[in-house]
Amino acid sequence: MLNPDRALYYRLGGYDAIAAFCDELLSRLTKDPTLAVYWRGKCDDSMRKDRQLLVDFLCMIAGGPVNYSGRDMKTSHTGLGINEDEWNIFAQHAIAVLNDLGVAEQEKEEVLSLAASFKSDVVETATHGKATH
Ligand code: HEM
Repeated sequence: MLNPDRALYYRLGGYDAIAAFCDELLSRLTKDPTLAVYWRGKCDDSMRKDRQLLVDFLCMIAGGPVNYSGRDMKTSHTGLGINEDEWNIFAQHAIAVLNDLGVAEQEKEEVLSLAASFKSDVVETATHGKATH
């Protein structure tokens, strides 16, 4: 039984487990017919950079010994025009990946509520308010 007092980072299985989660999630998001537009036009190296930033960020907010050197969530998502429907699609993918990886219920809830705590920084419009893309 995992020690429930340990940081979420360790309970999830540390860096490699969180990196695997990010890889699977990004693979789904970039293939999703609605969300793919957000990464269209990025070269492989930019995708690797974004992936590394996501890994570092999740490790850090899960309480791991990792230093995130990227921008805050409001700065890095403002202007993308992400709406509520798109957030819900993102959340469904995150749940599916957590299930696929066999993450336990408690840790699953913690990951999802951590992600949800950034929702107001990421979502700009209630619904279909995008002017571009
Ligand atoms: C619908 C949901 C989301 C979409 C479509 C999305 C999309 C994006 C895109 C396109 C970028 C690159 C922005 C740019 O460089 O111009 C980005 C950056 C990033 N996103 Fe998200 N995002 C979503 C949710 C989240 C959530 C929930 C988190 C974390 C809890 C997150 C963490 C990050 C991080 C760490 C970066 C890198 C910041 C940097 O470049 O300094 N994203 N996101």
